[in-house]
Amino acid sequence: MSTKGSTQQSSPSPSPSHSPSLVEASSWGAGKLILFGEHAVVYGHPAVAVALSRGLEIHVCREVSPDANARVEARLSARGRLIDIEPPQSAALLTAFHEGLRWASERGLALSGVYEFTVAGALPFKVGLGSSAALSVASLRAIAKLHHHHFSDAELFEGALSMERVFHQNPSGLDHQVSIQGGALMFQRSTLAATLEGGGHAKGFTQRSLNIGKILHLVLSWTPREGSTADAVSGVAARRADSPSIYDTLFYEISEITKRGITAIESGDLYTLSALLNDNHQRLIKLGVSTPALNQSCERLLSLGALGAKMSGAGHGGTSFGLFESEARSQAAALSLQAGGHQALALSLH
Ligand code: PMV
Repeated sequence: MSTKGSTQQSSPSPSPSHSPSLVEASSWGAGKLILFGEHAVVYGHPAVAVALSRGLEIHVCREVSPDANARVEARLSARGRLIDIEPPQSAALLTAFHEGLRWASERGLALSGVYEFTVAGALPFKVGLGSSAALSVASLRAIAKLHHHHFSDAELFEGALSMERVFHQNPSGLDHQVSIQGGALMFQRSTLAATLEGGGHAKGFTQRSLNIGKILHLVLSWTPREGSTADAVSGVAARRADSPSIYDTLFYEISEITKRGITAIESGDLYTLSALLNDNHQRLIKLGVSTPALNQSCERLLSLGALGAKMSGAGHGGTSFGLFESEARSQAAALSLQAGGHQALALSLH
């Protein structure tokens, strides 16, 4: 169920009969699920995430002014998913789109006039499944396409990082890198980028695509979050400042769990993998980012037959997932959760 790269869905199409004329383009960015290492990754430890086949599609429509130097402006279209987005979020979205346009302009694209963005796609917002990363990647691809340009993966990483900072202040880069690359990824921020507040100008990271040794049958379940990723990340930073050795020990333990998790994923050892998911979840409780609702969700997944379960993403609500032995079991568990009124999705990662 993992996806590679972008699905580009329409070509830039000049509209001949309008003045000012319109051009439009669409592109797509994948959501993500973090299997191991969230929060520790902000401090330079490795993490593992997979791209999802669910993502966001961004449609950008440019009103071309006869004045080639017309001021560049971003607008949100009232169509698409905007109906799901509350006003504080839509203000952040607009700021992020402005940032994307600013960044693209700095890269030499001849932008001018009004760019209207429409958000579509089936990825839920604000539950730790990478909606802001999917949005950033998709909108930069759409802007490039509209200007008959192509950003390399490294450029996309930089551009999406500057958009992600609007939402997350100090993003590790994991979410949008897995959205760009697709598949399953080990990602580790450089020590320098992890040390500087907001990443500074240090951009380094290492990554490795992982081979999934045996199909992973997962069930994801989510509830709305209490607060943002930035709140959860800054809460951890504040608690670490008070008790550095406790938090650094937890990060180290998560890092060891992640490394063993990588071996278990690649060798297809589902039982070790499940035990490691449970262990990582316990460390996230100790970091103070899990909630009673997330813990109950993991218990529910285990009672429905999951071999292991953990929360995923920044926490304070959001997503948890369980690993199942077979597709039949994961489908049955997802149906049972849905029948009980929970948001749930079964997916298989190859
Ligand atoms: O909840 P999300 O999808 O925003 O994931 C955040 C993951 C963190 O490790 C907590 C932060 C980061 O920048 O990697």
